[in-house]
Amino acid sequence: MTEPAVADRPAGERVPAIEAVDVSRTYQLDGVSVEALRGVSLTVQPGDYVALVGPSGSGKSTLMHLLGGLDRPTGGRLVIGGRDVNALAPPEMATLRNETIGFVFQAFHLLPRTSAVENVALPLVYRGVSARQRRERAAAMLGRVGLGHRLDHRPNQMSGGEQQRVAIARALVTEPTVLLADEPTGNLDSVTGAAVLELLEQLNAESGVALVMVTHDQEVAARAHRRITMRDGVVVADSAHPRSAHDRPPSVDHGRPATLVPAPSAEPRSASGSGPGHPSGGSGGAAGATGRLPREVERPEALPRDAVPGDAVAREGGAGAREVERPGGAA
Ligand SMILES: Nc1ncnc2c1ncn2[C@@H]1O[C@H](COP(=O)(O)OP(=O)(O)OP(=O)(O)O)[C@@H](O)[C@H]1O
Ligand SMILES: [Mg+2]
Repeated sequence: MTEPAVADRPAGERVPAIEAVDVSRTYQLDGVSVEALRGVSLTVQPGDYVALVGPSGSGKSTLMHLLGGLDRPTGGRLVIGGRDVNALAPPEMATLRNETIGFVFQAFHLLPRTSAVENVALPLVYRGVSARQRRERAAAMLGRVGLGHRLDHRPNQMSGGEQQRVAIARALVTEPTVLLADEPTGNLDSVTGAAVLELLEQLNAESGVALVMVTHDQEVAARAHRRITMRDGVVVADSAHPRSAHDRPPSVDHGRPATLVPAPSAEPRSASGSGPGHPSGGSGGAAGATGRLPREVERPEALPRDAVPGDAVAREGGAGAREVERPGGAA
């Protein structure tokens, strides 16, 4: 089932963590097509530190959702962790996401009345990790982000910076290859934001997790090892490929036109949803086998509507994940 990332890769060349080739994403909204991505090609290498910049509406979040397997391209080829997402069924996508990707969003997306340690442990529920191990690993990860003394605090008892650190711990507890952060400091004051950024950089340097971060802050972008600039749904500059930056990649024949109605699993995100799916990356259905989900998850109607946005993941996740991913049918 696993496909090589790209056949005939020259010996010694690194296998990318993520590879996008001429990827497009067209939303259908009230009968109108919105071409959010119009042929994006890029690779994310293990250990990369990439800043993704560009004007509002240029397609940064859309691209992040695709790179993280929260959504599927409507055209082109996308390979995550060596697997072509076009070949994956929804539960396989959910598992791939859980194993490969960590997400951090501007709005944290924590379960507000569930303890920090349980929030961080949540992605491990889908891994079949025992309750005791989950707590141990989540506590250790919270220690790494400087919150070892806040294990049993709930997010609604924590500062914004602390909440974002909990979200970072949750993203990394599964030891993903890639951490995707969409404006992770956007809701924080400058001092707190700088501390969160430093933490992300430290984790990138120490653990080797690739960091791809959307930012509107040029100073933040300047710190990254690589900058990718988007405009109108295309990459207009990539500091890793300065000379070819303005060249659009040749179109690849994928057996279907580059722009068409999204596949069934790739419908538009909810109109109000700024975020895509639940960042915990459920692989679907495993929770019941290995332990209880937090009460908040078991009573999804109790969640605020924006706490766990997630039409895309709900469709991917299968029955077990659906409970988690789609509390109250976030609309
Ligand atoms: N669910 C959707 N349905 C229809 N159009 C969408 C949807 N989501 C995004 N778009 C459109 O796709 C384009 C790219 O949006 P995207 O959210 O990726 O931009 P962005 O670069 O992240 O912007 P910002 O910096 O404001 O977050 C925009 O024109 C947006 O209006
Ligand atoms: Mg965005």
